Amino acid sequence: MVGLGSSFSATKDNMSTHIIPHNYQVSKEDRVKSNKHNAFLLWFTGLSGSGKSTIANLVEKALFEKGIKTYSLDGDNIRKGINKDLGFAPEDRTENIRRIAEVANLMIDAGLVVLAAFVSPYKKDRDNIRTIVKDVNFVEIYINTSLEECERRDVKGLYKKARAGEIKNMTGISAPYEAPEQPDIEIKTEETSIDDAVQQIVIHIESKL
Ligand code: ADX
Repeated sequence: MVGLGSSFSATKDNMSTHIIPHNYQVSKEDRVKSNKHNAFLLWFTGLSGSGKSTIANLVEKALFEKGIKTYSLDGDNIRKGINKDLGFAPEDRTENIRRIAEVANLMIDAGLVVLAAFVSPYKKDRDNIRTIVKDVNFVEIYINTSLEECERRDVKGLYKKARAGEIKNMTGISAPYEAPEQPDIEIKTEETSIDDAVQQIVIHIESKL
């Protein structure tokens, strides 16, 4: 008799060898042609409270007003839906970023300029995004705000709680942030106005559109 156990005994590798992709007649190239712009991923990384979402939001608005088809993925939203089973331990963050990169990859295939704002503190996880969406589609934007400044702003009150020991694994306090060494764009928010930051990013990506 074939029991439940046997249907679960196939290894993951085994299963993936039996999945054959279907080729659809409308391709990414068709969508890019129809939209009249390229599709790629703008990845914003930085400490919590560094200004990633604020800047991503305004960049999206500027692109949208130019007629570019966009979509934004944001840590606080994604963690309430598709990734609500994940916490902030290193392996959970790795899985968080992997899933978001796969979702972004589908959206790139759908012809969109995707903006993603996630702390993404580990270099290896950000390198993995580059592999998933392909190097040419990945623009790494480092929103560089010092921990002191993020803590001073403490918009969500999380740093205070982390200092009091109420939040574990808080990036910058009790968990690491590995800053990008060679980001495509770096915004030092303590020296740059929000408007200038947005303009800098839009100018940088104009040639990719
Ligand atoms: S990531 O590290 O896995 O990329 P993500 O960007 O999804 O993190 O979520 C970060 C957001 O979750 C922060 O902006 C903050 O609001 C909230 N948060 C709650 N707990 C933590 C924590 N321990 N470390 C960092 N952010 C946290």
